Formats: sequence, structure tokens, C-alpha cells
Amino acid sequence: VAFSLAKTLKKNPIEVAQEIKSEIEKNKSKYIKKIEVAGNGFVNFFLDKNIYFDEFKKTSGGKIKKINIGKNKKIIVEYSSPNIAKPMHIGHLRATIVGDFLARLYKELGYKVIRWNHIGDWGTQFGMIICAYKKWGSKKEIDQKPIETLLDLYVRFNKEAKENETLHEEAKQEFVKLEKGDKENKKLWQWFVKLSLKEFEKTYKLLGVEFDVIKGESFYEKDLIPFINNQKKTKTAVMSDGAYVVMLDNQKLPPALLQKGDGATLYMTRDLVSLVHRIKKYKPIEILYVVGNQQIMHFKQFFAVAEILKINKKTKTKHISFGWILGEDGKKLATREGKIITAQSLIDEIISSAYDIVDQKRTDVSKKEKEKIAQAIGIGSLKYNLLKDYRDSDIIYDSKKALAMKGNSHPYINYAYARISNILKKTKKIGVGNFNLLEDLDALIIKKIFSFEEILIKSAKDNTSNYLTDYLFELADLTNTWYEKNQILKDENRERKNARLVLIKNICSVLERGLEILGTKTLKNI
Ligand code: ARG
Repeated sequence: VAFSLAKTLKKNPIEVAQEIKSEIEKNKSKYIKKIEVAGNGFVNFFLDKNIYFDEFKKTSGGKIKKINIGKNKKIIVEYSSPNIAKPMHIGHLRATIVGDFLARLYKELGYKVIRWNHIGDWGTQFGMIICAYKKWGSKKEIDQKPIETLLDLYVRFNKEAKENETLHEEAKQEFVKLEKGDKENKKLWQWFVKLSLKEFEKTYKLLGVEFDVIKGESFYEKDLIPFINNQKKTKTAVMSDGAYVVMLDNQKLPPALLQKGDGATLYMTRDLVSLVHRIKKYKPIEILYVVGNQQIMHFKQFFAVAEILKINKKTKTKHISFGWILGEDGKKLATREGKIITAQSLIDEIISSAYDIVDQKRTDVSKKEKEKIAQAIGIGSLKYNLLKDYRDSDIIYDSKKALAMKGNSHPYINYAYARISNILKKTKKIGVGNFNLLEDLDALIIKKIFSFEEILIKSAKDNTSNYLTDYLFELADLTNTWYEKNQILKDENRERKNARLVLIKNICSVLERGLEILGTKTLKNI
């Protein structure tokens, strides 16, 4: 302030700072301990820690209040969106976990949230799978290992099609038949969809992730051609090399393809029609699409076309992009044979590593109990690990670090939580406390508790989870230092001890609430 004022007043900044200091000192709040002019014009304020203690008392012991910035606002959060007949890959896993976090966050902020899953169940690749199944498929094998077998069929199709060009033509015909409602093909397709959804459901259940709307791209099929015809009529869609496209030269983007020369519709077309449907049916103020950053161009084009068509006049649309999950060597995660790592295998691996840890530490419980604990630790650690970085950065994934007791990890937060909640367990009733007896470290913790709300709002502004994980990590860290410094239960000053017990209750509820928004649980709630 002094620097900018100095310019207008044509004075020396130090002089201005001195004046600010003496003006404030004339009518100083009791919470300002000292004001000092530093450097060549800075004004430093030293607050009395009682400002935190008094505020803490006023707000009934710092209970988290309900934030209602989203009142009467509806938001659609789209996430996960895997593809039928293929396994959910780790990109879908990150989308699922980030999207679930965002859905929880917006709900916490008072929004009405619609959790949306846009399943990839339509497109020419289904012609290929049907064709491959008719040639080489076995019902028995698919029933036993549905996704794996369907993926094998798809891979085999592509391999054989390289040598035999007629295969692509055959696959195209199979898809045309499917589009026209051919009974046999429709039945096969429905069967593939059912098997895949069943498999996805298992993963969602394990992760504790839910949806309000699960809709395949096929849902929009009947509206695709009328939609394209409309764009042709108004000349928004124009013919280019036999296909219909929307030109996006003004937006400095390549043209968006709506219909191929052979009449087939595209991923883009289905996204546009789905947007029309979502807005008409739900009237949300915003739609978030949690999809990997390989699709940045797709979303730019998609939103540009939507704007030209004035589809989303009252609804904001945002691509919530995220980076890759890489192995320790910085390369894409793959098995030793070079196959892609599926979401399920990553989950299985961390649960089994968690089991080994639990097995060593908890000799007091049954195998079944150990499995239950391992699952909770494994899932919680995996989610936390995938949420702790800014969403657009790539993650170097290492399950050992995710499960480590030290560092910015789920186990570390739970460790701090367990230590202090154990104190509460040993306490029958908390008597009257005097917060003004507390010390600097207590004040720091209270300050941190008060900033929880601000962190949530900031997280929603940038739609990223790392502010919250950083916050929880810092709170856990402070709590551990505080715990080690103060012998809380042994404190002979009753009033101070009670004040600290109230503080513990508050730390616990912030940690619980924070983890809940990340989609995980404290170990107590398992
Ligand atoms: N199924 C697509 C994929 O796996 C993701 C869909 C993303 N959502 C969307 N509205 N385009 O790549």
C-alpha cells in the first residue's frame, strides 16, 4: 500500500508507511500486538493469537459450517465414461476418481449434482467385434472372461484385417445391419453391453463410486440424422471430401466432422446431440467433462460447434482435462509383456500390497478382517495418490509411495487422525475449556481449520483436488507436531486440557470431511 500511495502522494514510501502505522496505532484493535515499518516501505502487523481463540469460541468451537454457494444451482459432472467390449483403462480410472471427487466437492458446496457416465457403446468398432465374433468367437469363452475375450476378438480383427482387406467391408456391413435394427446383431450388441456394464459395476462398487445417469452413446442414435440434416439445411454443416463438416476457421480450429462419406455418424455428433439432450432435460448451469488431455482438441471443436449452433446459451461447458498415469521410469504403465495395464489390475495390485502390510502388522485379526482392512487402505491410498497432484500433470505412479506411512499419503493422514482420535476414545466427557490458555502451535492449527472453507471454494474454482490434499497433509503434519509436543491427557491444567480436547474434535471432523470429499474414509469408518 505504501509503495503505490507514495507514487500518488509524491512522497517517500518509508514516510507513507510511517504515517499508516501511526494512523492505525491511534485506534488499534486489541488483536494487533505490534505494527512495524520494515524494509523500504513495508508495514508488518503482528497479530495476537487470541484473535484465533476468540473466533474459535464464537463459532461454537470451530464447527464446519455448511457452505451454500451452489444453492439452487444444478451441475452435471461427467466422468469415467469407459467403452463397451474393452477393459476400463487407467485413464478411465483417473477420470472416475477425479470426477467422483468433483461431484462430492460440488455437493459439499451446496450444488445439486448430477453424476453422469457417458458410455462408449456405439460406433463402427462394434461392426468389427460382431464380425470377429461371428468368425472366431465362442460363447463359452465370453461367458467366462467377457471383456478379455472381446478385446482379444477386437485385436485379432485388426490384425487379420491388415492382410485381408475385405474384412473392413464386412465389419461395416455388420454395423449397418446393427444400425438398421437387425435382430441377430442387436442381440449380440446388447449382450456385449450387458457383460461390460456388469464388469464396470464391479469396479465402481469396489471404488465406492456411483452415478445418477448411465447413458450409452447409442441412446442418441435416433436423433443423430435429424440433427445432421438440420445443420445441412441451415448450411452450418457443409460438404467436404464427401463428408459433412462444420468449418471452424474463425476459431482457428480444424473442421469438426459430423458425418462420414458413407453416412456414418461420429463421436463428435453424439457429443453434440447428448449436449442438446442434457441441457433440455436438466437445465444445468454448468457441465463438466472429466476426460484425459489427449482429447483437448476434441473438446475445443465440440464446444466451438456448440457455440455456433447456440446450444449452450445458458449452460457453461468445461473440459476438465487430466494427465497420464506413468510408471516409475516415466513411461506408460504396461505389463512385462507390453500389454496395457487395466484399471482393475492397478486396483488389485495395491490391495494385495496393502494386504502384505496388514498381514505383518495385524496378527490379532482374522484373515477376513485383514482382507477388509487391506481393501480400505488400498483403495483409499490409490485414490489419494491419484488426487494429490494438479490434475493436468502426469503422475509417476508407485504403489509403495501411495501406501507409505510418511509423506503426502493417505496412510500418513490416517496416522495423524488415529493418534488424536485415540485421545478422544480415552475421554469420557469434555468439561469447560479456556481457549485463551492455548499457545502458538494451537493457534496455527485453529487458523488452518478456519481455512478449510476457503480451500474448498478454491478447489472448485480450478476443479482440482491437490489443494485439498495439500491442505490435509499440512493439517496432519501440524497435528503430529502438536501431538508430540503436548502431553494432552496428562495436562494438569484442566481448562487448557479441555480446550485442546475440543480442538481435537475439530481436527478430526475436518480430516473426516476432507477425506470424504476425496472419496475415501478414515480408518475408523471402515
Ligand atoms: N468413451 C470415451 C473414451 O474412452 C470418453 C468419453 C468422454 N466423454 C465425452 N462426452 N466425450 O475415450
